[in-house]
Amino acid sequence: MPYPKPTRRSWAEPFKIKVVEPLKTTTRQHRVEAIEEAGYNTFLLRSEDVYIDLLTDSGTNAMSDYQWAGMMLGDEAYAGSKNFYYLEANMQKYYGYKYLVPTHQGRGAEHIISQIMIKQGDYIPGNMYFTTTREHQERAGGAFVDVIIDDAHDPESPHPFKGNVDLQKLEDLIKKVGANKIPYISVAATVNMAGGQPISMENIKAVRKLTSSHGIKIILDATRAVENAYFIKTREKGYERKSIAAILKELCSYTDGATMSGKKDLLVNIGGFLAINDREIFDEARNMVVVFEGLHTYGGLAGRDMEAMARGMEEMTKEDYIRSRIGQVEYLGQKLIDWEIPIVRPIGGHAVFLDAKKILEHIPQDKFPAQTLAAEIYVDSGVRTMERGIVSAGRDSKTGENRHPKLELVRVTIPRRVYTQAHMDVTAESILEVYENRKKIRGLKMVYEPKHLRFFQARFEKI
Ligand code: F0G
Repeated sequence: MPYPKPTRRSWAEPFKIKVVEPLKTTTRQHRVEAIEEAGYNTFLLRSEDVYIDLLTDSGTNAMSDYQWAGMMLGDEAYAGSKNFYYLEANMQKYYGYKYLVPTHQGRGAEHIISQIMIKQGDYIPGNMYFTTTREHQERAGGAFVDVIIDDAHDPESPHPFKGNVDLQKLEDLIKKVGANKIPYISVAATVNMAGGQPISMENIKAVRKLTSSHGIKIILDATRAVENAYFIKTREKGYERKSIAAILKELCSYTDGATMSGKKDLLVNIGGFLAINDREIFDEARNMVVVFEGLHTYGGLAGRDMEAMARGMEEMTKEDYIRSRIGQVEYLGQKLIDWEIPIVRPIGGHAVFLDAKKILEHIPQDKFPAQTLAAEIYVDSGVRTMERGIVSAGRDSKTGENRHPKLELVRVTIPRRVYTQAHMDVTAESILEVYENRKKIRGLKMVYEPKHLRFFQARFEKI
């Protein structure tokens, strides 16, 4: 069949490929055995057995020649590396916070800020939980309270800013427990567990107003804040003509500090930081980082890693880069929508989220539909995705009961600058194949459950 003529002009990735890494293809029988050996958990597969790896966008980015060149300029001094000062200057330039504490990755920063700011019995509201963030809040004696808008829990709601905080829920919590029991609100941009959904500038401004009147701080999870800035630019009135860099800085200006996993927006393979405006918190954090990560001018990173992060900040805010980044996710998502496969709408910033609850509606949630679906996709094509449902949600820290999240999803996560449009086609076709044979799929039972962040290491067997 001839290809139809296009209805619009195409755009392409704003880079060309200089180094390639060969991919390994495997047989179906090999994959059937590999996934069984991995306990039907895609986290336990060997990467060698994976064809297209869409497990995560974390640390899986392709660095540019500019970043690789910077790696050779690593100043590996124990103290006062020049790469640290460059990173600090770029953090101030692009994010606008005063003080920087580098950490080995995002959870290092979450650990430090939680230990410093949270007391036993405190409450930490947030726009939906993230696994590691909540774990550190609970370890510090806090209780996480979800204050995201209801739309975020509905995969079909077309709300353009499903990451928004429900101000009424936040106000109710403040009334109920008292502002002195709430050291800060944890605001993520974008919201990973909701499907990579953004928060609007209008909403973060309103959160600032409400929290300021009660003396409550805002700590931003800035992990994918550049992707959030793109959604503000394309969806929010008044921001169409502003630069991504200006939007990012404005977003941060309504908050008091940020935890950051550099492994996402910053286009590197490792790294993170804590940024903060308050001098006292900074002094404590700088002291604590020495105990858990490394000296305050490297925080568990090599000098070259800090250089790559600093350079990544310059690249992440380029308009053509971010358009192609989100455009690729959209390309995959739109294909699935055209084929009427249920996914979270609108399409997120870093991933397409399959609605496993709907796709495998014959499998009850306690038989792990999303875990099952991810395993099936792997067997079909060697494409690796991951569960974001009841396994990820874990158990309630007080009652020990399984949490039953409304969202039971499979995340098809796109690394930055790594795969081409053809890889997206192969992925979409594999998902379609599994979707068309969905009635034959049976669920799983959990046979090993680790105590913390169980989704990483849990094991399952076929029912
Ligand atoms: N916050 C968000 C929103 C994240 O997505 C992650 C990591 C972290 C914090 C923790 O950062 O991994 O550098 O320690 N997300 C990865 C993922 C693991 O696959 O979504 P980290």
